[in-house]
Amino acid sequence: MQSRRIGSSVSEKGENVGKNDMLISAAKQARENAHAPYSNFRVGAALRATSGRIFGGCNVENATYGLTVCAERIAIFKAISEGERGFDAISVVTDTDALTPPCGACRQLIWEFCGDIPVILANLKGKIEIFQMRELFPKPFDSSNL
Ligand code: THU
Repeated sequence: MQSRRIGSSVSEKGENVGKNDMLISAAKQARENAHAPYSNFRVGAALRATSGRIFGGCNVENATYGLTVCAERIAIFKAISEGERGFDAISVVTDTDALTPPCGACRQLIWEFCGDIPVILANLKGKIEIFQMRELFPKPFDSSNL
């Protein structure tokens, strides 16, 4: 029988903190591979699928500038191309005091592929902020508009 609970117990919260830490570590690790010779702005992302698998991504720039792909989209495309569907959370890590939220293009795709998941922003000094996608992307265009 499935039980229904409102709110989360202390142990569930603890579990989430542990899971979030793991996702942030994966994003930090992915950031190590950032290819950002033009902006020098290195970004790492990590996306957790409902299967439990974690997909890292980093920003990849190139001489056109415009064809740059953000860390978040790389993580999403890696996961989708590996057959994953359904995601729990995404983390974005940079080395800035003001944490880095996903850009508009990434918000569109996070919404499309992941829905209203938590977006865990962090920096290298241990600062963390968590937003729900519905806060970051309040009036989306998606398949319900077609
Ligand atoms: N960038 C990301 O990878 N993710 C974000 O959320 C914001 C921006 C990258 C794109 C570009 O390589 C650099 O950061 C500066 O915009």
